[in-house]
Amino acid sequence: MSVHTVQKRLMAPDITAMKGHGPIVALTAYHAHTAAMADRYCDFLLVGDSLGMVMHGYETTVPVPLELMIMHGRAVVRGAKRALVVVDMPFGSYEESPSVAFRNAARVMKETDCGAVKIEGGRRMAETIRYLVERGIPVMSHIGLTPQSVNVIGGFKAQGRRKEQWAAIEEDARQVAEAGAFAVVLEALTQPLAQRITTAIDIPTIGIGASGSCDGQILVMEDMLGLSPRVPRFVKKFGKVGEAIEGAIRAYAEDVRTRAFPTPEHTYSMKDEVMKGGTGNGTKARASARVGSVARSVTRPSAGKATKKPKNLSSKA
Ligand code: KIV
Repeated sequence: MSVHTVQKRLMAPDITAMKGHGPIVALTAYHAHTAAMADRYCDFLLVGDSLGMVMHGYETTVPVPLELMIMHGRAVVRGAKRALVVVDMPFGSYEESPSVAFRNAARVMKETDCGAVKIEGGRRMAETIRYLVERGIPVMSHIGLTPQSVNVIGGFKAQGRRKEQWAAIEEDARQVAEAGAFAVVLEALTQPLAQRITTAIDIPTIGIGASGSCDGQILVMEDMLGLSPRVPRFVKKFGKVGEAIEGAIRAYAEDVRTRAFPTPEHTYSMKDEVMKGGTGNGTKARASARVGSVARSVTRPSAGKATKKPKNLSSKA
């Protein structure tokens, strides 16, 4: 009898159920390998439209197309096995009407196999959230600083710093929760306001620059790794990946220029029979025919031995 252990992937209701049971841990992820690493430690991974800024060099998230979200969404779903994967709906793909939002969100769900989508906006998006949830699409909401509205807000500015702004933001939180959102991202909010909202609603609040009073935390992975050249002040850098990458590239360039790389260790040797120049009928012909394929077929350059079963040359080899 064989025993199969199936790794269960978290779903939107699992995240909702985590409210009151300790902090929810989340990160953005944009490609399969980092998603696989983050999957071991995070409850959900967000394929955020911030990928437009941290990976594709846009100044804001506004230009990000739906296709880009789908492409990165697929990669993250392939990499992550346990965490819920949430994909951001980019600017222009959901605001027009609930039915437009449904069409595009359904496309994201079908083409990426993610477990939920995220949309920015409070009260103004409540009807759309209800429409999507009633039709089978779990929605994470995003209020406070909503970066897709940067051109209206006039910059990436913290919200709720004046008390007269609180009521509107609290109302946003209440209405998205009532509409059926399974969680809500609070971005760049002051601590007292984040705390009030977290206490007032029964879905988890996920803070990014919104204090430790939220039910969970999310950061943009490239920011917390120390890879992004510029980061908001609320980011703690947990690594120096940018420095490590630049150091490695510098060392590579130097090694190539001084011919310290590649060495025989990184070079393919000929198979024995080819080296001998042929041992029998047709061997020479076979050997020369093989020369072109050698680079694609031998796995261990330094071994100096003929491998019986050539494997493909790939990053897995
Ligand atoms: O796109 C993104 O990275 C986000 C986070 C800021 C939550 O929406």
